[in-house]
Parts: sequence; structure tokens; C-alpha cells
Amino acid sequence: MNKKSLPLVIVAVILLGLLYWVFGVPSVGNPDIPTDAASIARGAYIYNAGGCGACHQPEGTEAAVGGYEIESPMGGTFIVPNITPDDETGIGGWTGRDFLLALKHGRSPGGGFYWPAFPYRTYMDMTDEDVLDLAAYVMSMEPVRMQQPDHDIPAWQMRIGMAGWNILADFLEGPYPEISDDPQVQRGAYLARALGHCSECHTPRSGLMVMQKNLEFEGSEIIKYAITPDNLASDEWNQDGMVYFLQSGEKPNFDYVGGEMADVIDHTSKLDLEDQLAYAAFLMRGHE
Ligand code: HEC
Ligand code: HEC
Repeated sequence: MNKKSLPLVIVAVILLGLLYWVFGVPSVGNPDIPTDAASIARGAYIYNAGGCGACHQPEGTEAAVGGYEIESPMGGTFIVPNITPDDETGIGGWTGRDFLLALKHGRSPGGGFYWPAFPYRTYMDMTDEDVLDLAAYVMSMEPVRMQQPDHDIPAWQMRIGMAGWNILADFLEGPYPEISDDPQVQRGAYLARALGHCSECHTPRSGLMVMQKNLEFEGSEIIKYAITPDNLASDEWNQDGMVYFLQSGEKPNFDYVGGEMADVIDHTSKLDLEDQLAYAAFLMRGHE
């Protein structure tokens, strides 16, 4: 190699490294999906806590065949896919690796990029153990043959763009506010931040659609009202009232929430009381 070509080689190596960084598939191993009844039962609980059914099993469907429509913020509509383990139209044959890549990295089994209409940027905070239990439950479902149509979005919206957006989001979304290490508050935070995806609707996003985690629950385009502990407390909310709300959808002012929030209550109402108390301890922290 002569001295002149050395800089070119260095540039090429740096470019390859960058490409790998942007497009490389994260290595997540390939742990077995458990098949025992206890894991499947834990998975069913997580499936509910994660609100997966709100999109994958919309009202009127008897299985997780999808079909729910989500408006793209850039125009067009996403159509939620079938996640029953059907080989042709669902996710039959998925492995532990495939679930970890999808839920924690937003990547498809072939290395492609999912759209964040699938809230993987929330689910990425799940423990691997919870993802695998969830997988155990999903793979235990009855396979249903139902092909959902392709997303109806303009051609310029390309999945590949999510490669760069994920990196931007990693840098720009920052951490959520610090909370105490009280185990109940920590459990509530895990439920809300890793599973219940409350922030997807309640936390503001920047112009680049990146969540501003430091402004957790301060309100968004979807609902402006802040569900921060102090703001809720100033409107007569307390921990008991929050538990009751998560069970019934009734607010301290006796109004019931509707629309997409009613779907959320549908799953919070099915959690164990212990987890509803944990949610309340986290959401109303600093206010008894
Ligand atoms: C807000 C709606 C929404 C929720 C909630 C949601 N998903 Fe999805 N999910 C989607 C959309 C939309 C896609 C398709 C993304 C794409 O095509 O890029 C998807 C894709 C998937 C895929 C990939 C399917 C395939 O064929 O490649 C899996 C697996 C999946 N979701 C599982 C889950 C699980 C498990 C949960 C709960 C922890 C969940 N989803 C919650 C909307 C949602
Ligand atoms: C898919 C979007 C979405 C998700 C996810 C979501 N919310 Fe909501 N939330 C809403 C909307 C919209 C409203 C307003 C509903 C209404 O007033 O009928 C609302 C209202 C509320 C309110 C009542 C605010 C008031 O008006 O006093 C609380 C409290 C709340 N949500 C908590 C949560 C918690 C906790 C989670 C996570 C478990 C969550 N939300 C997840 C969309 C969402």
C-alpha cells in the first residue's frame, strides 16, 4: 500500500463503521422462548399491561389479527399487522431473537426497520425476561390466517429513514426525570414507562418527533392537559383517586375519559391491585 492511498483506506473504514452503526442489526442472542404454563401466564399479563391488544386486537376482533388504523403524523395510515403465529400472514416461526429485536430495537427479523407507530421506543425499556414471557404468550395463541393490507402511506416515507431517526432519538430524547428508589414507585415507573406507553400520548415531542422525556407527562398534541403529579394534585387527584381512575376511567370530577384513553383503562383495570397501587404511587409521587 502506498502512502497516498492510506487516507482513502481510513475514510473507507470510517464510512463502513458508520454504515454498520446506522444499519447493523444489534446482536441480542437467540434465547429460547419458554413454553411452560407459568411463563405463558406471565406473558398474558404483560400483553395486557403493554396494551398490545389496543392495536393488535381492536374491538370486534376475536384474535390478535390487527387491522387497527393509525394516522401517520407525516400523512397516510398505518395498518396494524396480524401477530398471531400464522406462518403466512402472522408471525409463525418467530424466535426469541426476533421478539427481542422487534420490541427492544424496532427491527424486523430480516433487519428491516419498523415504524414507531409500533411503540418500540417504549417497549425497549422492558426486561429481556418480560419480552420472552410475552413471546411465550403470543406464540401460544391460536394462529389465524388473515392478511392485513400494506400501510397506506406516501412512497417517500421510507422505512430506511428510521435508521437515522432512531439514532437521533437515542441522542435527543434524554432520560426521564429521576424518581426515588422506593420499590413501589420503581414498579409503577416500569409499568408506565416500559409497558403502558403513557408517554406516547402524554409527553411532548420535538419538531423531529422525538419524545422529550425530561418533560414527561407535560402534555402533547394528543392531549394538552398535563398529568404530572403536581398538576393532577392541584385538580383534586390523590393516590386513591388514581387507583379508582385506573380501574374505572372515572376522574375525581366524576367525568369519565373516552376515546383512546378508554382503551387504556380497559387494560389498567385488569392489572392486579398491587400494580394499580404502584401506578398511583408513581403517577402521584409526592402527593399521598
Ligand atoms: C399503538 C399501536 C400498537 C401497540 C400498542 C402495539 N403495536 Fe405491535 N405494531 C403496531 C404497528 C403499527 C406495527 C407495524 C409496524 C411496521 O410495519 O413498521 C406493529 C408491529 C408489531 C410486530 C411485528 C409484526 C411483523 O409482522 O413484523 C410485532 C411482533 C408486534 N407489533 C407486537 C406487539 C406487542 C407484543 C405489543 C405489546 C407489547 C404491541 N405490538 C403493541 C402497532 C402497535
Ligand atoms: C393512545 C393515547 C393515550 C395513551 C397511551 C394514554 N393516554 Fe391518558 N389520555 C389520552 C387522552 C386522549 C385523554 C383525554 C381523554 C378524555 O378526556 O376523554 C387522556 C386522559 C388521561 C387522564 C385524565 C386527564 C384529565 O383530563 O384529567 C389521565 C390521568 C391519564 N390519561 C393517564 C394515563 C396513563 C397513566 C397512561 C398510561 C397507562 C395513559 N394515560 C395512556 C390518551 C392516552
